[in-house]
Amino acid sequence: MKATIAVGDKDSASHELRQLRAQLDAHRREAQDKERQLERYASDLRETFKAERARAEELRGSYVDTVRALTNAVEARDAYTGAHAARVAAYGLALARRVDPNLAANPQVEFGFLLHDVGKVAIPDGILHKADRLGDEERVLMDRHPIIGYEIVRNIESLAEAAQIVLHHHERWDGSGYPDRLAGEAIPLADRVFAVVDTLDAITTDRPYRPGSSLAGARAEIRGMAGTQFDPAVVNALDELGDSELERIRQGEV
Ligand SMILES: [Fe+2]
Repeated sequence: MKATIAVGDKDSASHELRQLRAQLDAHRREAQDKERQLERYASDLRETFKAERARAEELRGSYVDTVRALTNAVEARDAYTGAHAARVAAYGLALARRVDPNLAANPQVEFGFLLHDVGKVAIPDGILHKADRLGDEERVLMDRHPIIGYEIVRNIESLAEAAQIVLHHHERWDGSGYPDRLAGEAIPLADRVFAVVDTLDAITTDRPYRPGSSLAGARAEIRGMAGTQFDPAVVNALDELGDSELERIRQGEV
């Protein structure tokens, strides 16, 4: 009797074991299926992310192209400045990286730099190209170009910050600029950077009436206007920017 019970127990134990094994196998298969499914999801997600990133890059590229086309349309009227806007934007981004990396990473900053003089489309040739000093009325009209540019750009929703840069690109640190006579840190940081590189480009570019100055000469002149025309902190940041980087931009290599 004892032996019969033992055989029965053994049979039922091995049956239970088989069942447990079968259950375990089923769980394992289920887990493997789930893992494969998760891997598929992850891979789909990666593909979607890659495609989205490519689309965003494409969109940004077409924005830059459009902004450049608009910029070129303005500059085509002024034979002397040539690629001024593209150079200023390159100088500006290099300097902005020193001043605040977040500023340089904002694509609207580059757009604002490129579009700064877009308002000049509304300035008559006779004033824009006048070799002599502008008369009072002509000066008033010329000085409206930041406001006109702002009016052009502000209606494009995605360029709202760029429009602010356009509006304030002729403000001065000491409050004697235009159109709003903003002073100090009330001037958007991007415009404080812009003011320095706009002057850097003006001083180092050849003009019909004078050759462009050296970088060292431009640096000294800008240093002399720290605290009046320019934000001293931005001028200090310019000192940290190496000649080779500025020279590459000047030669049109960037
Ligand atoms: Fe301007």
